Amino acid sequence: MAVAFPPHIMALSKVQRLYDACDVVFSSPAAAPTLGEIRWLQNILDGMEAADVGIDDGEKPTSSSSSSDDELSPKSGRCLLPAPAFTRITYVHIHQCDDFSIGVFCFPAGATLPLHDHPEMVVLSKLLYGSVRVRSYDWVAAPWPSPSRRKCGLARVVAADVVRRAPCQASVLFPRSGGNLHAFTAVTPCAILDVLTPPYSEDHGRPSTYFTDVPVPSLPGFAVLEETDLPEGFTVSGAPYLGPELTVDMDDDDDDDYDSYDDE
Ligand SMILES: [Fe+2]
Repeated sequence: MAVAFPPHIMALSKVQRLYDACDVVFSSPAAAPTLGEIRWLQNILDGMEAADVGIDDGEKPTSSSSSSDDELSPKSGRCLLPAPAFTRITYVHIHQCDDFSIGVFCFPAGATLPLHDHPEMVVLSKLLYGSVRVRSYDWVAAPWPSPSRRKCGLARVVAADVVRRAPCQASVLFPRSGGNLHAFTAVTPCAILDVLTPPYSEDHGRPSTYFTDVPVPSLPGFAVLEETDLPEGFTVSGAPYLGPELTVDMDDDDDDDYDSYDDE
């Protein structure tokens, strides 16, 4: 769906445009987003760079970026987060409400985010800089009634250690397709801007669960997944969001419920 933004929308920061579009598409009452809406959001994400969310990608300043984001330009001297220098996986929280969350995972080279699921969620992801190896699966539908949240079972390989390099198009996964369970290993320092709808919520039966995967020799392209604890010592740090200030819909729940990752 081609969308021509009117001038007053073009004057907004890119992250504000992303938020506004998410607010339109994902607002309650909950309804599955249409493919046209997904493509609209992907187009917005595809136009975004690290500086648009207040992150220094380590590249030399360019004249690139935003039409109206001059205040964000590295040349302006505005403080950007030096994410490529981080030594641990770090989450930069941008927004969370009942309907969706927006944030950035920053990886040092070699770091792995273990295999995890996104129960009943749609996730749009934009690799902002760097290279990342992706391994992903979808559950094989069981012929018998099964609980929506699965803890073990047969899964189909969607991506077998596929390396994505920025710049590349935003990806999307759905509750039952597109690689709903995935693991990331950073080949170089990299950052992934994620939009999750709805967000993780223990209270609403959408916890984040981690899995082991064991290939099935007699079934190439499939693996048995089983719930597991996080690897010992695995932590995700938190870093402040330094990008353009967001104006949020006051009908949204604010971030009070947000369980931030703490620096450890
Ligand atoms: Fe994920």
